[in-house]
Amino acid sequence: MTSQLQTVQARDQHLPRGEWWRQAAIYQVYVRSFADGNGDGVGDLRGVRDRLDYLRGLGVDAIWLNPWYPSPMAGGGYDIADYRDIDPVFGTLAEAEALITEAHTSGIRVIIDIVPNHCSAEHPWFQSALAATPGSPERARFWFRPGRGRDGELPPNNWISRFGGPAWTRVTEANGQPGEWYLHLFAPGQPDFNWTDPAVHAEFLDVLRFWMDRGADGIRIDSAAILVKDPALADGAEPVGPGSAEKYYTDRDGIHEIYREWRRVTDAYPGGRVLIGEIRLPDHERFARYLRPDEMHSAFNFDFLRCPWDAHELRDVIDHTLAAHDPVGAPATWVLSNHDVTRHVTRYGRSDTFDVGDRQHGAALDLDLGTRRARAAVLLTMALPGAVYIYQGEELGLWEVEDLADDLRQDPMFVRSSHVDPGRDGCRIPLPWSGGEPPFGFSPAAGADAPWLPQPQEWSRYTVEAQAYDEGSMLSLYRAVLQLRRVEPALASERTPLDWLHARPDVLAFARGDAFACMVNLSTEPVALPECAAVLLASCPTDGRSLPGDAAAWLRLT
Ligand code: NOJ
Repeated sequence: MTSQLQTVQARDQHLPRGEWWRQAAIYQVYVRSFADGNGDGVGDLRGVRDRLDYLRGLGVDAIWLNPWYPSPMAGGGYDIADYRDIDPVFGTLAEAEALITEAHTSGIRVIIDIVPNHCSAEHPWFQSALAATPGSPERARFWFRPGRGRDGELPPNNWISRFGGPAWTRVTEANGQPGEWYLHLFAPGQPDFNWTDPAVHAEFLDVLRFWMDRGADGIRIDSAAILVKDPALADGAEPVGPGSAEKYYTDRDGIHEIYREWRRVTDAYPGGRVLIGEIRLPDHERFARYLRPDEMHSAFNFDFLRCPWDAHELRDVIDHTLAAHDPVGAPATWVLSNHDVTRHVTRYGRSDTFDVGDRQHGAALDLDLGTRRARAAVLLTMALPGAVYIYQGEELGLWEVEDLADDLRQDPMFVRSSHVDPGRDGCRIPLPWSGGEPPFGFSPAAGADAPWLPQPQEWSRYTVEAQAYDEGSMLSLYRAVLQLRRVEPALASERTPLDWLHARPDVLAFARGDAFACMVNLSTEPVALPECAAVLLASCPTDGRSLPGDAAAWLRLT
């Protein structure tokens, strides 16, 4: 492993103390939809290993893989039945180890996803809790409680699951009688762990070591702020809704001790291993507490992802992001899309560009406009100080597939919301790699099963093959931006400050250092480029004197 780590480290020598994550470009691999190596219509580790050259050529520093563990898929793989193995649909543990080794050889670090809030109902611990009696140590690892009402027929409290419906499910006891209820903040197949039990702490420290021993460079921590519950389990406020009991389980003080434990384990490994939190909190100061030097290294920036295409709002998010991170010395992160939200080409093509939590399937959409803005957004994102995340397919300009037939939808959100929320399948469609017909090279050529979700025929124009040598393609833009970001001195460190430049209210313009600037025109009219600037890269053709509407440019200041 040492020689591979040296290979990876060679690429980030410019960063102090090997702190590669501070300025990294991290590519999110949703394994199920990335590439299918064995022809069963589902993406797998063979598929990822076969495409490492593609990722290297794209110019990313690391990949983050969504959960790859054995899972009955009651929660899209975020329902883990065994934290120390790989689901057979994806491959084997030996293949995961090979993938980590090969990625390192390609100069790419590997971040894996760990889910500490809940497991699968098929996890052995939960199975033994079901078989055990109320009050047993097996049940103490989860939140089992008697029901309310005369016969315990009502849930212990009024909490609502994040996927809709009650956050409690009643079990049948060994004697065949209806018994206790267990808590699941997500689907019923995802029982919540009880983090007051020391066994849960010990188990996860061991899981961390298991993967770090195998060379994992980072851990993406799922639902990181909701592990600790108020043991009183009091009712949430009226009217009852998904958020009405948040204060009883979100960002409770005891949570920081968990991440301090995790950090101590992480720091014992060489080579810059990192903890990255999925943390959504409205209070910036409380968010930053998770990034203190003895806790996580970084966290996803949901404010940026949720921000509408609006100069004032974007500037505000950028400013408060930098201000929140500064006191704790953590790098910011910048994220436009992920496997949970409507792809940003689609979001930016709507008149209401703020639709992350509230999908607008069927609302009027201008894909050309969305694509233009997405091209500008990548120049903005990659010029900001900190790490960037790229969700697979955004480098191809893929849009949200909104016309999936209901019977093909797989996301539990769709069923649990009584078909009100179409769910997240539309951003999880298998990637198009080559050819003119589905599966577009996603699966091997001959005899493969159809992809697990159907791809639109129009994606024949969006394949990697179709874009690779087209200078005007989204893929060429991503490659150029990522390459320039690596060699441009002003972007080499997130510590080079961002200084806003004077500009119209609907234009964002900022310098990084004395010689580099980024300008984003969010209006519909062209704006003049500064006279003392040469265009290094632009999101659309420019004459060097003005920047069209919904476009961005990187500039060399002279
Ligand atoms: C956040 C993950 O990103 C999402 O996909 C998942 O459904 C929930 N956490 C629950 O694990």
